[in-house]
Amino acid sequence: MVIDILRATSSICVGFHSGVTLFRPVSQPEQALALEQKGFVAAAERNGQKLDGFTLGNSPYDYINTDLKDKQVAITTTNGTRCLHLSYEAGEIIIGSFLNLNAIANFCKKKQRDVIAFCSGWKDKFNLEDTLFAGALANALSDTFTIECDSTLAAIDLYHTAKPDLSGYIKKASHAQRFERLGIDKDIEFCMQQSIYDFVPKMVGDDLVL
Ligand code: MLT
Repeated sequence: MVIDILRATSSICVGFHSGVTLFRPVSQPEQALALEQKGFVAAAERNGQKLDGFTLGNSPYDYINTDLKDKQVAITTTNGTRCLHLSYEAGEIIIGSFLNLNAIANFCKKKQRDVIAFCSGWKDKFNLEDTLFAGALANALSDTFTIECDSTLAAIDLYHTAKPDLSGYIKKASHAQRFERLGIDKDIEFCMQQSIYDFVPKMVGDDLVL
Protein backbone atom coordinates (compact mmCIF):
# COMPACT_ATOMS: atom_id res chain seq x y z
CA MET A 1 0.00 0.00 0.00
CA VAL A 2 1.38 3.37 -1.04
CA ILE A 3 0.70 6.32 1.26
CA ASP A 4 1.13 9.99 0.35
CA ILE A 5 -1.23 11.84 2.66
CA LEU A 6 -0.10 15.33 1.54
CA ARG A 7 -1.32 14.91 -1.10
CA ALA A 8 -1.07 12.43 -3.96
CA THR A 9 -3.00 9.47 -2.55
CA SER A 10 -5.57 11.80 -0.96
CA SER A 11 -6.13 13.79 -4.17
CA ILE A 12 -6.40 10.62 -6.26
CA CYS A 13 -9.17 9.44 -3.92
CA VAL A 14 -10.96 12.76 -4.40
CA GLY A 15 -10.66 12.31 -8.17
CA PHE A 16 -12.25 8.86 -8.02
CA HIS A 17 -15.05 10.32 -5.92
CA SER A 18 -15.61 12.90 -8.69
CA GLY A 19 -15.97 10.11 -11.25
CA VAL A 20 -12.45 9.71 -12.71
CA THR A 21 -12.34 6.21 -14.20
CA LEU A 22 -8.59 5.70 -13.96
CA PHE A 23 -5.36 7.40 -12.99
CA ARG A 24 -2.17 6.56 -14.84
CA PRO A 25 0.84 7.42 -12.66
CA VAL A 26 3.77 8.49 -14.85
CA SER A 27 7.34 9.49 -13.96
CA GLN A 28 7.80 12.58 -16.08
CA PRO A 29 5.59 15.57 -16.90
CA GLU A 30 6.26 15.02 -20.64
CA GLN A 31 4.66 11.57 -20.40
CA ALA A 32 1.50 13.13 -18.95
CA LEU A 33 1.43 15.69 -21.78
CA ALA A 34 1.86 12.92 -24.36
CA LEU A 35 -1.09 11.08 -22.85
CA GLU A 36 -3.12 14.30 -23.00
CA GLN A 37 -2.87 13.99 -26.80
CA LYS A 38 -4.63 10.63 -26.42
CA GLY A 39 -7.53 12.01 -24.42
CA PHE A 40 -6.21 11.91 -20.86
CA VAL A 41 -6.38 14.92 -18.55
CA ALA A 42 -2.78 15.83 -17.59
CA ALA A 43 -1.83 16.49 -13.94
CA ALA A 44 1.62 17.46 -12.66
CA GLU A 45 3.10 18.64 -9.37
CA ARG A 46 6.67 19.29 -8.29
CA ASN A 47 7.75 20.64 -4.92
CA GLY A 48 4.12 21.23 -3.91
CA GLN A 49 3.22 23.32 -6.94
CA LYS A 50 1.20 22.66 -10.07
CA LEU A 51 3.39 22.81 -13.16
CA ASP A 52 2.59 25.41 -15.81
CA GLY A 53 0.68 24.12 -18.80
CA PHE A 54 -1.13 21.35 -16.93
CA THR A 55 -4.87 21.16 -16.41
CA LEU A 56 -4.53 19.75 -12.90
CA GLY A 57 -2.03 19.91 -10.07
CA ASN A 58 -2.11 17.83 -6.91
CA SER A 59 -4.51 19.75 -4.69
CA PRO A 60 -7.60 17.83 -3.54
CA TYR A 61 -9.56 20.92 -4.57
CA ASP A 62 -8.41 20.44 -8.20
CA TYR A 63 -10.24 17.12 -8.13
CA ILE A 64 -13.56 18.31 -6.71
CA ASN A 65 -14.73 18.89 -10.22
CA THR A 66 -17.77 17.51 -12.01
CA ASP A 67 -15.94 17.90 -15.36
CA LEU A 68 -13.76 14.97 -14.31
CA LYS A 69 -16.61 12.46 -14.50
CA ASP A 70 -15.66 9.54 -16.78
CA LYS A 71 -12.23 11.05 -17.46
CA GLN A 72 -8.81 9.36 -17.39
CA VAL A 73 -6.04 11.29 -15.64
CA ALA A 74 -2.28 10.95 -16.28
CA ILE A 75 -0.54 12.16 -13.14
CA THR A 76 3.02 12.79 -11.99
CA THR A 77 3.95 14.05 -8.50
CA THR A 78 7.18 14.57 -6.59
CA ASN A 79 7.02 11.46 -4.42
CA GLY A 80 3.67 9.64 -4.58
CA THR A 81 3.68 8.49 -8.20
CA ARG A 82 7.37 7.61 -7.89
CA CYS A 83 6.56 5.29 -4.97
CA LEU A 84 3.79 3.66 -6.99
CA HIS A 85 6.37 2.87 -9.66
CA LEU A 86 8.82 1.56 -7.06
CA SER A 87 6.08 -0.81 -5.83
CA TYR A 88 5.37 -2.42 -9.18
CA GLU A 89 6.65 -5.82 -8.11
CA ALA A 90 4.31 -6.08 -5.10
CA GLY A 91 1.62 -8.76 -5.28
CA GLU A 92 -1.12 -6.16 -5.02
CA ILE A 93 -0.82 -2.36 -4.82
CA ILE A 94 -3.47 -0.18 -3.22
CA ILE A 95 -3.36 3.44 -2.11
CA GLY A 96 -4.23 4.71 1.35
CA SER A 97 -5.31 8.06 2.73
CA PHE A 98 -7.20 9.24 5.79
CA LEU A 99 -10.09 9.86 3.40
CA ASN A 100 -10.54 6.09 2.90
CA LEU A 101 -8.99 4.76 6.12
CA ASN A 102 -11.86 2.46 7.17
CA ALA A 103 -12.22 1.02 3.68
CA ILE A 104 -8.48 0.23 3.63
CA ALA A 105 -8.61 -1.37 7.09
CA ASN A 106 -11.58 -3.55 6.08
CA PHE A 107 -9.86 -4.51 2.84
CA CYS A 108 -6.72 -5.62 4.72
CA LYS A 109 -8.75 -7.56 7.30
CA LYS A 110 -10.61 -9.40 4.56
CA LYS A 111 -7.44 -10.24 2.60
CA GLN A 112 -5.41 -11.44 5.62
CA ARG A 113 -2.17 -11.01 3.65
CA ASP A 114 1.02 -9.33 4.81
CA VAL A 115 0.70 -5.57 4.49
CA ILE A 116 3.56 -3.21 3.74
CA ALA A 117 2.70 0.43 4.36
CA PHE A 118 5.01 2.26 1.96
CA CYS A 119 5.23 5.83 3.25
CA SER A 120 6.24 8.10 0.36
CA GLY A 121 7.90 10.66 2.64
CA TRP A 122 9.64 13.60 1.02
CA LYS A 123 12.49 13.01 -1.42
CA ASP A 124 13.59 9.78 0.29
CA LYS A 125 13.21 11.21 3.79
CA PHE A 126 10.84 10.31 6.62
CA ASN A 127 7.76 12.47 7.04
CA LEU A 128 5.21 12.75 9.83
CA GLU A 129 1.94 12.63 7.92
CA ASP A 130 2.49 9.32 6.10
CA THR A 131 3.79 7.66 9.27
CA LEU A 132 0.74 8.91 11.19
CA PHE A 133 -1.53 7.28 8.67
CA ALA A 134 0.49 4.05 8.84
CA GLY A 135 0.05 4.19 12.63
CA ALA A 136 -3.69 4.81 12.37
CA LEU A 137 -4.06 1.86 10.02
CA ALA A 138 -1.85 -0.46 12.08
CA ASN A 139 -3.84 0.54 15.17
CA ALA A 140 -7.07 -0.38 13.39
CA LEU A 141 -5.58 -3.74 12.37
CA SER A 142 -3.88 -4.57 15.66
CA ASP A 143 -6.65 -6.96 16.80
CA THR A 144 -6.40 -9.10 13.70
CA PHE A 145 -2.76 -8.79 12.63
CA THR A 146 0.54 -9.66 14.30
CA ILE A 147 2.86 -6.68 14.22
CA GLU A 148 6.44 -7.76 13.67
CA CYS A 149 8.14 -4.50 12.95
CA ASP A 150 9.40 -1.85 15.37
CA SER A 151 8.75 0.95 12.87
CA THR A 152 5.07 -0.06 12.90
CA LEU A 153 5.02 0.01 16.72
CA ALA A 154 6.63 3.46 16.63
CA ALA A 155 4.03 4.62 14.07
CA ILE A 156 1.22 3.43 16.36
CA ASP A 157 2.73 5.33 19.30
CA LEU A 158 3.04 8.45 17.14
CA TYR A 159 -0.59 8.08 16.12
CA HIS A 160 -1.70 7.84 19.76
CA THR A 161 0.28 10.98 20.59
CA ALA A 162 -1.26 12.91 17.70
CA LYS A 163 -4.80 11.48 17.83
CA PRO A 164 -6.40 14.05 20.19
CA ASP A 165 -5.69 16.77 17.60
CA LEU A 166 -4.51 15.16 14.39
CA SER A 167 -4.86 18.30 12.24
CA GLY A 168 -3.08 20.41 14.87
CA TYR A 169 -0.25 17.87 15.16
CA ILE A 170 0.26 17.62 11.41
CA LYS A 171 0.99 21.36 11.25
CA LYS A 172 4.43 20.53 12.70
CA ALA A 173 5.25 18.56 9.57
CA SER A 174 7.79 20.07 7.19
CA HIS A 175 5.44 19.60 4.24
CA ALA A 176 2.64 21.37 6.15
CA GLN A 177 5.02 24.27 6.69
CA ARG A 178 5.85 24.23 2.97
CA PHE A 179 2.09 24.47 2.30
CA GLU A 180 1.86 27.47 4.60
CA ARG A 181 4.64 29.21 2.69
CA LEU A 182 2.85 28.41 -0.58
CA GLY A 183 -0.51 29.57 0.83
CA ILE A 184 -2.18 26.19 0.27
CA ASP A 185 -2.61 25.11 3.89
CA LYS A 186 -6.37 24.61 3.41
CA ASP A 187 -5.39 21.35 1.65
CA ILE A 188 -4.19 19.96 4.99
CA GLU A 189 -7.61 20.12 6.69
CA PHE A 190 -9.14 18.48 3.65
CA CYS A 191 -6.66 15.60 3.61
CA MET A 192 -7.06 14.96 7.35
CA GLN A 193 -10.78 14.14 7.09
CA GLN A 194 -11.33 10.52 8.04
CA SER A 195 -13.17 7.81 6.14
CA ILE A 196 -15.38 10.00 3.97
CA TYR A 197 -14.91 7.59 1.04
CA ASP A 198 -15.67 3.90 1.08
CA PHE A 199 -13.47 2.61 -1.73
CA VAL A 200 -9.99 1.20 -2.26
CA PRO A 201 -8.13 2.27 -5.42
CA LYS A 202 -5.80 -0.42 -6.71
CA MET A 203 -3.24 -0.84 -9.48
CA VAL A 204 -4.29 -2.99 -12.40
CA GLY A 205 -1.51 -3.06 -14.99
CA ASP A 206 -0.34 0.53 -15.43
CA ASP A 207 -3.41 2.14 -13.95
CA LEU A 208 -5.07 2.88 -10.66
CA VAL A 209 -8.74 1.93 -10.79
CA LEU A 210 -11.55 1.32 -8.32
C1 MLT B 1 4.09 14.15 -3.72
O1 MLT B 1 3.79 13.25 -4.49
O2 MLT B 1 5.24 14.38 -3.38
C2 MLT B 1 3.09 15.04 -3.11
O3 MLT B 1 1.85 14.56 -3.08
C3 MLT B 1 3.45 16.44 -2.98
C4 MLT B 1 2.31 17.42 -2.93
O4 MLT B 1 1.71 17.71 -3.95
O5 MLT B 1 2.00 17.94 -1.89
